[in-house]
Amino acid sequence: MFVWEEKYSVGIQSIDNQHKELFRHLNNLLEAMKQGQANAIITQIISDVERYAVIHFQKEEFFLQRFNFQGSAEHIKEHQDFREKVSSFKAELKTGEVTLTIELLYYLKDWIDHHILEIDKLYSECFRQNGLK
Ligand SMILES: [Fe+2]
Repeated sequence: MFVWEEKYSVGIQSIDNQHKELFRHLNNLLEAMKQGQANAIITQIISDVERYAVIHFQKEEFFLQRFNFQGSAEHIKEHQDFREKVSSFKAELKTGEVTLTIELLYYLKDWIDHHILEIDKLYSECFRQNGLK
């Protein structure tokens, strides 16, 4: 079970809420894997994670650009890498390898940990100064 903790807070409630939702999607994936769900269901859940992540990235990217945040390009590049990685995993998953799903799950968790704790936190001050709460 992946748990959102205060250390993940970027100090902006609407963004923290989206991050919490991402954790919920990851837990759905973890549960489905534990229960040995069929690949079709797993693939569906991965698509849900992907869809939600994209909605979330769009929100961040909108503000990064609107507030002319200095590190925008690097930040957006990380989002792009994530999108590409997940879509290539999905394509490979069609071969039916279970280990691939575990690999993906840990990739997602590591990526989210790194991204929130090290990259998202960089915009906290800028976003707050521009009035986001
Ligand atoms: Fe981000």
